[in-house]
Amino acid sequence: MVLAQEQTPDEVSLWSSPGVLITIVLIAIPMILGIIILTMKSYRIAKQIRNKETLKQAKILAEEIVRNKASLNPEQIAEKKRRLEYKLSNAELSGKQPAKDVRGLIQNPTNELINSFFARKSQPPKRPKIDKNLTKLVLWFLGSAIFWLLLGTSVGEYLGIKFLVPDADSVSWLSFGRLRPVHTNLVFWGWSSLAMLGLGYYTVPRVGNTSIASLKLGWYSLYFINASHIIGTISLMAGINNGGGEYREYIWPVMLLFVIGLMLSLFNYYKTVAIRKTKEIYISNWYIIAAVIFINIIAVVSYLPFWQDGLGETIIQGYYMHQAVGLWFMMFVLGLLYYFLPQQLNKPIYSYSLGILAFWTQILFYTLIGTHHFVFSSLPWWLQTVAIVGSVGMLIPVAAGTINFLMTFKGSWNKVASSYSLPFFLVGVIYYFTGSLQGTAEAFRFTNLLWHFTDFTIAHSHITMYGIITFTLFAGVYAIVPRLTGKEPTQLWVGAHFWMALVGLQFYTIPLMIGGTLKGLSWGDGEPFINSVVLMEPYWLWRAIGGTLMWLSHIVFAYNFYKMVRVEKEVDIHEVTLQLLQNDNKESEIEEDLKT
Ligand code: HEM
Ligand code: HEM
Repeated sequence: MVLAQEQTPDEVSLWSSPGVLITIVLIAIPMILGIIILTMKSYRIAKQIRNKETLKQAKILAEEIVRNKASLNPEQIAEKKRRLEYKLSNAELSGKQPAKDVRGLIQNPTNELINSFFARKSQPPKRPKIDKNLTKLVLWFLGSAIFWLLLGTSVGEYLGIKFLVPDADSVSWLSFGRLRPVHTNLVFWGWSSLAMLGLGYYTVPRVGNTSIASLKLGWYSLYFINASHIIGTISLMAGINNGGGEYREYIWPVMLLFVIGLMLSLFNYYKTVAIRKTKEIYISNWYIIAAVIFINIIAVVSYLPFWQDGLGETIIQGYYMHQAVGLWFMMFVLGLLYYFLPQQLNKPIYSYSLGILAFWTQILFYTLIGTHHFVFSSLPWWLQTVAIVGSVGMLIPVAAGTINFLMTFKGSWNKVASSYSLPFFLVGVIYYFTGSLQGTAEAFRFTNLLWHFTDFTIAHSHITMYGIITFTLFAGVYAIVPRLTGKEPTQLWVGAHFWMALVGLQFYTIPLMIGGTLKGLSWGDGEPFINSVVLMEPYWLWRAIGGTLMWLSHIVFAYNFYKMVRVEKEVDIHEVTLQLLQNDNKESEIEEDLKT
């Protein structure tokens, strides 16, 4: 049997199993990278301080020279240089004598603090003229997405707390079983899907050098999708759901609204590609159009009445779950990356051919791997093996995509620190590699026996859906909203959002991976089930702490979005300076004027 384990897990040492080893390596990669980045950053800061000092001296010298050019001969210049290089003994100003700068060394003293710890973010280039109506549509898509993110993750936050305080409430509408699908459906179909579609409404026409085929269809798509989430959330909380299938708990009329919204966007994107003004279809649109076709097929197929029972239902459920994550979220987000990375780095993508290779192999392998969710189930053994082999095959598109993105970054790493969006994109790319590899590790029979049903799967879900998808979407929002509205978020708050989300995700996922492994081992040893519940407590506490950080970061993100879209007068430095001069320095009057 291909890749089947010949020994039972009892006979195989845990520490020599490939899955556990891969996971240890995966945890080690970001940690080692973190230490390297920290060391390099400290070294850079020290170097920057030194350089700044040298530069200051050079500037003073140059100014002196320019000032005295006519009268200075080479000896005098050398003397000036010597004076500038003169170092204080640090005792000059001590003693009883009044402090006196007899050598004239202290020039241009300043009280201004120079903060060398934060790189200044560069302003985006002057934005090209973007249709005001399209801007409005994109912003409403993104705004709605952020609303669902806040609601969905507030529910997630509460669910995380419930693991520690299971008796927090006794209201049926707030029970774990009802709230869990509210969280997953809102973050999947509300936040991620709407943010992707919103960014798509900007990207699809842009890469075809044309305008969107129909703004009206875009608005209808948004109405239908938002309506499905309002009705869907209420009905899930009321206990009205589709029964078993995960991520398809919405009853069919609710899902129908969602699918109509998706179909309208598919038609709109497709028409936009058809009326493109470029000869080729840029690779982003390959990915995006394919993703929207796949989600329509997946959503319809999974609701067909004759596949709602028995083993057929299980196969369709696996197909649905993994096609949704791989051929909807991942495919769309890859399309966005192929547009945004080159745009933000101001250079072409490293290799078009690698992108095409990744595209076709992604479709080939992803359509085969749904059954890896049901390893050891009563589905045919050969089908499970096909899914496991397909999961290994996924290494091809993942490696091709990661190499392509990292090689595009190559030579432009200096741009990461001075950009709002590139750090988020970089995290997305790193998690694309590590999260997908983790998935491959989970698909083997030995590891699946250990981890399936444990919190390890929850860690994988968040590493991928949050680390890859959500981080890339954050990046996309920071990349285009300032271009659309001409308003920047506050640098400090973007930093706060980034670090809280990233650190929160580590606190969330690493403990769950450790706890999940221990839980699986405890079950394997035949210990009483309650032991595995007790042992998880500290790991769930860490998840709650990490979740809280992530949740807070979303509030900051929503605030940043608000700062970028709110209507206010833009302060033009030249205009205000001129006003100040003309108004005889009546600052208060100008401030008052700006407020109105
Ligand atoms: C504040 C941030 C978040 C918190 C606190 C949180 C918390 C949770 C909790 C407690 C669960 C239930 C776990 C269980 O049943 O054992 C869960 C499940 C899940 N969450 Fe989140 N979540 C957050 C953000 C997100 C985001 C942004 C996404 C996707 C974009 C996401 C996707 C999922 C998925 C897919 C599951 C199901 C996992 C599975 O069954 O394998 N979560 N989340
Ligand atoms: C090479 C790529 C990947 C492979 C081979 C893979 C493999 C797996 C496997 C084997 C499981 C089942 C674990 C179990 O139940 O025992 C799983 C679960 C999951 N994966 Fe992946 N994964 C990959 C990439 C991704 C990506 C890119 C995403 C999201 C964008 C993702 C999201 C999820 C989610 C949400 C689940 C939980 C499903 C559930 O609720 O049971 N995975 N993955």
